[in-house]
Amino acid sequence: MSKEFFQIEISKYPSENDLELNDRQLLAQAHEAALRAYAPYSHFKVGAAVLLDNGIIITGNNQENAAYPSGLCAERVALFYANAQFPDCTPVAIAITAIGETRPVTEPITPCGSCRQVMAEYEKKGGKNLKVIMQGQEGVVMVADSMKVLLPFSFANDLLLKYITN
Ligand code: THU
Repeated sequence: MSKEFFQIEISKYPSENDLELNDRQLLAQAHEAALRAYAPYSHFKVGAAVLLDNGIIITGNNQENAAYPSGLCAERVALFYANAQFPDCTPVAIAITAIGETRPVTEPITPCGSCRQVMAEYEKKGGKNLKVIMQGQEGVVMVADSMKVLLPFSFANDLLLKYITN
């Protein structure tokens, strides 16, 4: 038996004011999207803003439903819409934030496992690092330079194709 240790690198900024301008603007768009979220059950409004390599920004927010599993996270709403509209473009950054209607969200929102899986596939498809910028509605901002940081050892289509093709 052997053990291997892997390191991950996350940059932390005290607030959005410490980010470079592009990232701060992307986060501001995510925040605006969060305000429009449809979250009548959780009262936890999430916003995401995706920057594509053609410069276009697509935003999304969580969409809940009385049949709970039918809802979708903000990140996937934004990414699926982006890839539906611009299938030849690559997402190069995504900002994620949340507004708590019960109490303020003061720590970074890190994406759920399903969203990470989706982000990892689009990153791989595009062949460019997908930067992930995470914040609550205020406070510390965490930045990962690639989805590989947030989802190491991901299940990816190259492995799938290796085993399902003749
Ligand atoms: N949610 C997101 O939109 N993104 C995440 O990364 C985590 C969770 C949503 C799903 C649901 O509408 C609400 O937050 C509470 O889980």
